[in-house]
Amino acid sequence: MEYWKLVWLFAVAFLFGGYQSEGLWEIEKAALKPFYQNWYLNGDQFPNWLLENNKKLEKLNLVNSSLSGHFLLPSTSRRGLSRLDVSSNSLDGNIPNEIGAKLPSLELLNMSNNFFTGGVPISIGGMISLQLLDLSNNKLSGGIPRHLAMGLVLFDVSNNQLFGDIPSSMENMSLLSILDISSNTLSGGIPRWMGKMSNLEALVMANNHFEGLIPMEFCKLNYSLKFLGLSANNISGSLFIKKQAKRADHHLSALVYLLLKNNHLEGGIPVQLCKLNRLRLIDVSNNNLSGTIPPCLMNTISSDSSHAYYSGSYSADVPIEFTVKSISYFYKGRVLTYLSGIDLSCNKLTGEVPLQL
Ligand SMILES: *[C@@H]1O[C@H](CO)[C@@H](O)[C@H](O)[C@H]1NC(C)=O
Ligand SMILES: *[C@@H]1O[C@H](CO)[C@@H](O)[C@H](O)[C@H]1NC(C)=O
Ligand SMILES: *[C@@H]1O[C@H](CO)[C@@H](O)[C@H](O)[C@H]1NC(C)=O
Ligand SMILES: *[C@@H]1O[C@H](CO)[C@@H](O)[C@H](O)[C@H]1NC(C)=O
Ligand SMILES: *[C@@H]1O[C@H](CO)[C@@H](O)[C@H](O)[C@H]1NC(C)=O
Ligand SMILES: *[C@@H]1O[C@H](CO)[C@@H](O)[C@H](O)[C@H]1NC(C)=O
Repeated sequence: MEYWKLVWLFAVAFLFGGYQSEGLWEIEKAALKPFYQNWYLNGDQFPNWLLENNKKLEKLNLVNSSLSGHFLLPSTSRRGLSRLDVSSNSLDGNIPNEIGAKLPSLELLNMSNNFFTGGVPISIGGMISLQLLDLSNNKLSGGIPRHLAMGLVLFDVSNNQLFGDIPSSMENMSLLSILDISSNTLSGGIPRWMGKMSNLEALVMANNHFEGLIPMEFCKLNYSLKFLGLSANNISGSLFIKKQAKRADHHLSALVYLLLKNNHLEGGIPVQLCKLNRLRLIDVSNNNLSGTIPPCLMNTISSDSSHAYYSGSYSADVPIEFTVKSISYFYKGRVLTYLSGIDLSCNKLTGEVPLQL
């Protein structure tokens, strides 16, 4: 390291390390920019001295800061740190196992969009305050840990190389609102208890090897579930909307996106789908569905339900592939709120396509 960089380092260390009893203990990227801009061009390490020297640091935001090399923890635990975001860098190596012990008070941990390898550290289960855990878009392998922070609201490990099944210990994560485990190689059945997760708004399990039936218990997700993404798995059986129309009144009534393409679903398209009056997008293409398309379905999809558009923050992050006349488009972000449609292609549907279509 050149001499002048050492000077900068001392200057910063003093600035942020020297006045620990006062001030705002949040180091934002912006504040650091003049320093690291030149500094990281040589691919220097993660600035763990920021954590090392600042015992009272509460938030560390180093998003998209051209960091590379390994992520390093401070030598002793930092109980003050509640938010750590190192997403969108080029960090690699393992996520250190002691992360739970060293940063026990984290509420947000975002390490997405890096090149982390190895397993999801078990010690993360010990972060009792953790609400938002985003490890998506890395190269993590191994299983989903049996022991996860029970207070998680968001758990995103999509686009990794995780395998194994969904641990039953997740059953009691009753606050979970967004669960994205898509694009891994996870397998096994879809657990019945998922139907009891009453706060679940988005369940994204696409691009895995899940098999078996969609549990009937999913119908119990009456008022919460807005986004159900199970595309590209090995799911069989029939569409799960209960046949008894009267009892289905409130079932899945909040559902906006139903994405089930590339599976082995059989049987007909249940008329009950028409009752889900907030549905904006159904994709059941490339299945083995048969029978006729209920005429009421298009009314449901195209009806003006502007009150029901899913404007939750989640839709902004989930790219959705939707096929229009054999051309796949990727819809992302706000576009989704304007999209409504249905894809029934590559099934064995017979009879007239209803006039409404
Ligand atoms: C990261 O920063 C660069 C330049 O500062 C910008 O062009 C790029 O869009 C940013 N990427 C993300 C994912 O924010
Ligand atoms: C984590 O960071 C990525 C990229 O910087 C961002 O898109 C994502 O929304 C963040 N996740 C959470 C839970 O804040
Ligand atoms: C979930 O909580 C219930 C009630 O507290 C308990 O009986 C059950 O064993 C828990 N399940 C798991 C998998 O920990
Ligand atoms: C779903 O609706 C049923 C009856 O319609 C009700 O008994 C149950 O408590 C509801 N569940 C949730 C999670 O709102
Ligand atoms: C789907 O399940 C069948 C039978 O259980 C199995 O042979 C096949 O390999 C599975 N396919 C995928 C992609 O997991
Ligand atoms: C569709 O069903 C037929 C007959 O049951 C079966 O032979 C075929 O493999 C199924 N196709 C898919 C894609 O599941």
